[in-house]
Amino acid sequence: MTSSLVSVAYHGGVAVITANNPPVNAICAGVRAGLLEAVKEVRSHGGVNAAVLLCEGRTFFSGADISEFSGPPMEEECRHLFAQFENLPFPIVAGMHGTVMGGGLEITLACHYRVAAPGTRFGLPEVTLGIIPGAGGTQRMPRLIGVEKTLEMVLGAAPVNTKTALEYGFLDRVIDGELQAGTIAFAEELVAANKGPRRTGELSVDPATATDEIVARFTAQAKKQYRNRQAPLTAIEAIRGSVGKTLAAGLALEDTLVNIAKATTESRALIHLFFAERETRKVPDLPKVTQPHAVGSAAIIGSGTMGGGIAICFANAGIPVTLFDANQEALDRGLGVIDKTYGSMVKRGRLSPEDKARRMALIGGSLDYTDARDADVFIEAVFENMALKKQIFAALDKVAKPGAVLATNTSTLDIEDIATAVGRPQDVVGMHFFSPANVMPLLEVVRTNKTSPEVIRTVMDLSRPLKKTPVLAKVCYGFIGNRMMEGYAREAEFMVLEGATPRQVDSALETWGMAMGILAVFDMAGIDVGVNVHKSNADKYPPDPAYYQADFAIHDAGRKGQKNGKGYYRYESGDRARYDDPEAIEILRGRAKQLGVAQREHSDEEILERCLYPLVNEGIRILEEGVALRASDIDVVWTSGYGFPRYRGGPMFYADTIGLKTLLEGILKYRALFGPMHWEPAPLLVKLAAEGKTLAQWERERR
Ligand SMILES: NC(=O)c1ccc[n+]([C@@H]2O[C@H](COP(=O)([O-])OP(=O)(O)OC[C@H]3O[C@@H](n4cnc5c(N)ncnc54)[C@H](O)[C@@H]3O)[C@@H](O)[C@H]2O)c1
Repeated sequence: MTSSLVSVAYHGGVAVITANNPPVNAICAGVRAGLLEAVKEVRSHGGVNAAVLLCEGRTFFSGADISEFSGPPMEEECRHLFAQFENLPFPIVAGMHGTVMGGGLEITLACHYRVAAPGTRFGLPEVTLGIIPGAGGTQRMPRLIGVEKTLEMVLGAAPVNTKTALEYGFLDRVIDGELQAGTIAFAEELVAANKGPRRTGELSVDPATATDEIVARFTAQAKKQYRNRQAPLTAIEAIRGSVGKTLAAGLALEDTLVNIAKATTESRALIHLFFAERETRKVPDLPKVTQPHAVGSAAIIGSGTMGGGIAICFANAGIPVTLFDANQEALDRGLGVIDKTYGSMVKRGRLSPEDKARRMALIGGSLDYTDARDADVFIEAVFENMALKKQIFAALDKVAKPGAVLATNTSTLDIEDIATAVGRPQDVVGMHFFSPANVMPLLEVVRTNKTSPEVIRTVMDLSRPLKKTPVLAKVCYGFIGNRMMEGYAREAEFMVLEGATPRQVDSALETWGMAMGILAVFDMAGIDVGVNVHKSNADKYPPDPAYYQADFAIHDAGRKGQKNGKGYYRYESGDRARYDDPEAIEILRGRAKQLGVAQREHSDEEILERCLYPLVNEGIRILEEGVALRASDIDVVWTSGYGFPRYRGGPMFYADTIGLKTLLEGILKYRALFGPMHWEPAPLLVKLAAEGKTLAQWERERR
């Protein structure tokens, strides 16, 4: 039998079932149908005494087809299919390679033996999507390795290697040499030794691996690791439920629980982001014929915090990069920091000394721009100063070869204006990295009215080797992320002037799910850095005498944040904790008094609404103005760059979750309290709330 996705061949008495569904052998409906037919065929084909299951291409089954998640449940079909494998009257061996995840691993648990090529990785990462392994994983894995180790894999969510798989006991052998031949040879050995089927479903779970202590330990870990999340706890319930049950009873429990998990906002949010992150590279208005430029080398101007981090991204991608700075001392400092960063990776065992040397060899330094005349991409990361940036761009214009990308990492300056410094504005683009640039996954790509399609395509594609998620934005103050930050930060600062403590504001935000409270973020970034930005952009802010006054008050008292041990909080050296500081609170009270800011009590609900509603409202404006291409892009910006909880799907998804009518009513409530200066609802919000629509609906209708 041969379908386009699954084929069967015979090697003596061994039936060889091979799937081929590029690029990653997702177990889509066609593959399931092909496998069902294949298993029927090998069962009825005479003379077969063993079977093997293999995949062509770069990996064994990598998992379920996630695009089917929103359709009819596929778990039941998988359960039926996997049972056909398990019930075969002769041994069946899965021969794995590549990355075997989720449903891809679950199918092998229904096989009787499992072997793998060296370097294969195995995982059950479903909780990261807000669901649980639902194709037998929570029931068969504990039968093979016990409850404790299954919990470790499922809650750990990261793939394990062959060594761990052998130790845990769900892998029988690592096959050196050709995998198909090795797997067939393994099957033949089984036949020669008269070994029949070894059905996982006939094993029982060792209750000693599921004591109250073990379950309590993993429950505590899950609550800590996955704050506000349901799926990890549901997974524990399912896995623990395997003890003392027949496979059929266990699968029935798993079925109930997976359906509960799939119905949660958490899983819808996480699956939304899974697709959102894959969508950002699509730029609908670029002509189809647009070709990116090849990027073989890069030059970075400014070897400070950002320039150094960006250089590391290039070196990690294997792209040679030259750093430039104003003088040798600054350049040496920059190169030294890079060396240290790699050094600490080596110390922590994250990088081999050889790899460090290879990467450092790709990073050069120079003070003379003519050394960069062959660079394909320039990224400017000097001080945030328009005159300086224009001077740098004018100098680059003289040396850069035709077609080279001229990018700026500015956070706040007008890139249209920067582009006037060169005779080739079509090549100018924003590449807004986030700090630390070698760690943060987000890259805002900012196009001006003149940026050419080729340059946009080049930068969007370059993000892949740089391991960044690119989100395209148009020029405006703050682009997408920082523009939305404005109202969020504003209200947090107002509230600490009105009598809330920094701890109270940050705790409300963190309990809700933000990775770090906003005032703690300011302390980390440096109060002086924020104040500089506020000062140089004062003309862009509303005429409110209290605007950013909390930051100014803290700064005026000589408090710079973590860097000098005091900001909104107090810090001690050698300790990353933040301590409440009555002195900071006193400073804020004093400034409030000067400004005549009335004192009030703040509930957690008010803190959340006042911080989140302006953030979402600005996001809707950004969408309406076309600054972002799509609502899901905004969600990616905030979840990958600003610590917005992924399980809430991002600000735009969250707006639809609470309902646009609720959001509008909330904004109007605060407008009545505080006046219209900061609380005008976005016109699109007013319109959609009146029509009873969601942002998702609006987007669908717009396409
Ligand atoms: N730090 C952040 O969190 C962050 C995040 C995103 C974007 N940015 C933006 O990135 C840019 C750089 O910020 P940073 O934090 O890395 O600053 P930084 O002060 O750490 O580094 C700036 C570097 O530019 C060098 N420099 C100054 N004048 C120069 C010249 N004429 N020629 C060559 N080099 C020169 C300095 O010597 C210094 O090494 C700014 O535009 C900033 O707004 C910063």
